[in-house]
Amino acid sequence: MEHNARQAQKEKIMEHNTQPPKASTSRRSFLRKGLVVAGTGTIGAGLLAGGLSFPAFAEETSGGLTSGDVAILRFLAAVEIIESDLWQQYNELGGIQDSEVPGGSGSAPYIADLQKLDGDMSQYIHDNTEDEFSHMAFLNAYLFSRGAAPVNLDRFRHLPSSKATGAQQIGRLTNLMQLTVDTSWWTRYRSRTQNPDLGGTFAQAIPGLSKGQFPAIPRHDGDLVPDNHIQAIANTAAFHFGFIEQGGSSLYPTLAQGVTNLEVLRILLSIGPTETSHFQTWHDKAGNAKVLTDPTNGLVFPDLNASGGEDTQTNLIMPEPTIFLNRKFPPISIIRPTGIAGVGSAVATIKAFTDDGLFIGQSKEFFALLQQLAQQADAARRA
Ligand SMILES: [Fe+2]
Repeated sequence: MEHNARQAQKEKIMEHNTQPPKASTSRRSFLRKGLVVAGTGTIGAGLLAGGLSFPAFAEETSGGLTSGDVAILRFLAAVEIIESDLWQQYNELGGIQDSEVPGGSGSAPYIADLQKLDGDMSQYIHDNTEDEFSHMAFLNAYLFSRGAAPVNLDRFRHLPSSKATGAQQIGRLTNLMQLTVDTSWWTRYRSRTQNPDLGGTFAQAIPGLSKGQFPAIPRHDGDLVPDNHIQAIANTAAFHFGFIEQGGSSLYPTLAQGVTNLEVLRILLSIGPTETSHFQTWHDKAGNAKVLTDPTNGLVFPDLNASGGEDTQTNLIMPEPTIFLNRKFPPISIIRPTGIAGVGSAVATIKAFTDDGLFIGQSKEFFALLQQLAQQADAARRA
């Protein structure tokens, strides 16, 4: 029943987010009877690929995409599915509950502590969640429209939900309860002399979060006390939001360099900056994290302004100019990294998510599939 409820919710969102072109109506009724569409096999009623539902506009295919473009889009679809899953969990407990996103019923103590970072946190969590669902739905619908296979990770939705009041009890793709959060993005975007593409390395803003495992959502109602414990969970979430969205900010411009088709390039260039818009917001909010020590596990959130240095100053949320391409050029304010040399950005993204603890409890098959999708995306080259 729970699975069906989730599926119904997802289909509602897909319906909400993918408006079929008006001209396709008559074709759609034709498709309903079953039709062979080149490259996709027999379909009916707009259904394809593991139960995912799409508007039936595959007939509008205007030429095949290169295998590289398909690989990039499929990897990004997988990433957006993963992001949607984790953002849904944040929204159920910390966001606004409405018909635009799959919700829970909220956790008042968690929301209260998130709002100590900004009174609009619940709205921002909701909107980030809706955006990821829209990215996921669009990318899969676009793949389908071009005769390529969409991505469906539903068979891996078996990780447990939080038992805290407010969370739905459904299977998840991601784990937000044992995170090891890399907060070096904080100093990376403040450095004027280092760039990861030119070998730069960066200190952790919150060293404690990079060692051990910490929840970013209450795991059960016992996590709602004492005050500094649930506040530490809200603080962890804030830094995790920044970690996730800075990743998307680099992933899209990096993969865009391997795209061949101009429309696919447009898609990547249009989604990527929304990830950066999220990142900018979360970067600002994380700077408002309460200075505290979690009495249950010793996790410290230090005063980032105490040093008086720019490497941690909380209001330096816009990218500081730094070296780019070659040190002979003047410093420039940029997204970083965006280089395609070395380990590919897709494989690096999966490694970063794995190191983050997001996939603790996932199956070997899940990791193998993600690795394959990532390697294929990284292998794509502009034709
Ligand atoms: Fe996204």
